[in-house]
Amino acid sequence: MEVVRGGMMAAVAVLACAMAVMMSEVEATKFTVGGNMGWGTNVNYTIWAQDKHFYNGDWLFFVYDRNQMNVLEVNKTDYESCNTDHPLKNWTRGAGRDVVPLNVTRHYYIVSGKGFCYSGMKLAVRVENSPPPPTASPITSASPNSIYRGQIVLPAVFAIGALWDAFIRFW
Ligand SMILES: *[C@@H]1O[C@H](CO)[C@@H](O)[C@H](O)[C@H]1NC(C)=O
Ligand SMILES: *[C@@H]1O[C@H](CO)[C@@H](O)[C@H](O)[C@H]1NC(C)=O
Ligand SMILES: *[C@@H]1O[C@H](CO)[C@@H](O)[C@H](O)[C@H]1NC(C)=O
Ligand SMILES: *[C@@H]1O[C@H](CO)[C@@H](O)[C@H](O)[C@H]1NC(C)=O
Repeated sequence: MEVVRGGMMAAVAVLACAMAVMMSEVEATKFTVGGNMGWGTNVNYTIWAQDKHFYNGDWLFFVYDRNQMNVLEVNKTDYESCNTDHPLKNWTRGAGRDVVPLNVTRHYYIVSGKGFCYSGMKLAVRVENSPPPPTASPITSASPNSIYRGQIVLPAVFAIGALWDAFIRFW
């Protein structure tokens, strides 16, 4: 009895470690557009985006003055010309805090209407398919903004769970 219980606890511990490692490798990122400056006229968003990688499953978070700006997705032509007459998608919800899920591997073109696109409030990001191979960074480096790509983690967790189940039965 004691032996079985010890084995179960070891299994749980190993499973917990495996989950922590997997989660750290597949974490998604929520980017606050413009960093501390947010979504406004004092940031060049081409420069803000140029050293970043955006992966399928990441998010853009727009923080701005809800009485002035907005968040509109347009196509490439309209991004270049700042035409907001026919947005592909209006992401504005009214609180000045809008989230755009980057859930398709493609280019996203997002501008503010009300004339602010002409003042530089325009952002183009290229969303890439998968994160790079895991680096040697410590597990604890996950930032509070990170969330997990459940669609990848869950099947892996089930697979490991099934393996342990089989192992314990056999034992
Ligand atoms: C963007 O939309 C406008 C208006 O619907 C259209 O004229 C233009 O060709 C589109 N550009 C692209 C790259 O799809
Ligand atoms: C976008 O949606 C918001 C909230 O529904 C609405 O107030 C605003 O008028 C819309 N803007 C455009 C350009 O469609
Ligand atoms: C991406 O997210 C949008 C908004 O939540 C949703 O409408 C759309 O169906 C999603 N697309 C995919 C491929 O998951
Ligand atoms: C942002 O910086 C890039 C690179 O220096 C420049 O080409 C672009 O015109 C700038 N955009 C704005 C809106 O000032």
